[in-house]
Amino acid sequence: MSKLDRIALVTGANKGIGFEVARQLSQTGCTVVLTSRNREQGENAVAKLKNEGGVVYYSQLDVCAPNTIAATHKFIELKFGRLDILVNNAGIIESTDGPASAASMDAIEKTLKTNFLGPIQVTQAMLPLLKKSKHASIVNVSSGLGSLTLNGDETHMCSQVPYVGYCASKAALNMFTVKLAFELKDTHIKVNSADPGYTATDLNNNQGYQSIEEGAAETVRLALIEENGPTGTYSDKEAVLPW
Ligand SMILES: NC(=O)c1ccc[n+]([C@@H]2O[C@H](COP(=O)([O-])OP(=O)(O)OC[C@H]3O[C@@H](n4cnc5c(N)ncnc54)[C@H](OP(=O)(O)O)[C@@H]3O)[C@@H](O)[C@H]2O)c1
Repeated sequence: MSKLDRIALVTGANKGIGFEVARQLSQTGCTVVLTSRNREQGENAVAKLKNEGGVVYYSQLDVCAPNTIAATHKFIELKFGRLDILVNNAGIIESTDGPASAASMDAIEKTLKTNFLGPIQVTQAMLPLLKKSKHASIVNVSSGLGSLTLNGDETHMCSQVPYVGYCASKAALNMFTVKLAFELKDTHIKVNSADPGYTATDLNNNQGYQSIEEGAAETVRLALIEENGPTGTYSDKEAVLPW
């Protein structure tokens, strides 16, 4: 299948890495369904990509609101009849997340709902459309902070990051990647986790050392993975990561 034929859905694509992933996918010729929880911000993002020549549609989608997931499913079903690429990008870090001994329950619960349950709900809703693709790819935008191995290595910077809710949400998302990839291993659907790397976005008050273009690279590579490419992997733009 030519890249030009691909239909791609990106969550949390009004800004940050999600917007850049939508931009890069549209530049390869994909038709992009750009989604966001805030309609106005999402429609502005769509307008920017259309100005750059992209074929981009908007659908409002809050990963914690099942009615918006169902409406986006309906939109894609009626418009395209299938989905080739799903990028589960939307994610949060809560300000009252923190060390395991003191993080607020509210922050941990909200983070797990958005970063773990959200991608599962979106994926389960979109699977019937992904099954209609000839060659589909699901990318779960994880983080190095989801690695149990790196968090447990006191010489690695991940072990110094306190946010237990965020780290647990990405570790759980990685488990979803592993379980779904195994379940779908004999199908045409690839499922992989991408770590963008520490990237300057609103998520970290623009403290990240990578540009947003660099932060989008691994997710875009996995989204466009070839038909006989790997499934059930976890990587950043330089290497395979330990779970
Ligand atoms: N930046 C990094 O260094 C880094 C490193 C590793 C992993 N990541 C991951 O990369 C992904 C993108 O983050 P980013 O750095 O680009 O952060 P960002 O600029 O804060 O963007 C996060 C996006 O997720 C959206 N979002 C949050 N909750 C949502 C919900 N319930 N439904 C739909 N959309 C929702 C936000 O929408 P609003 O604008 O409405 O808030 C925004 O569009 C996240 O999964 C993050 O965990 C980032």
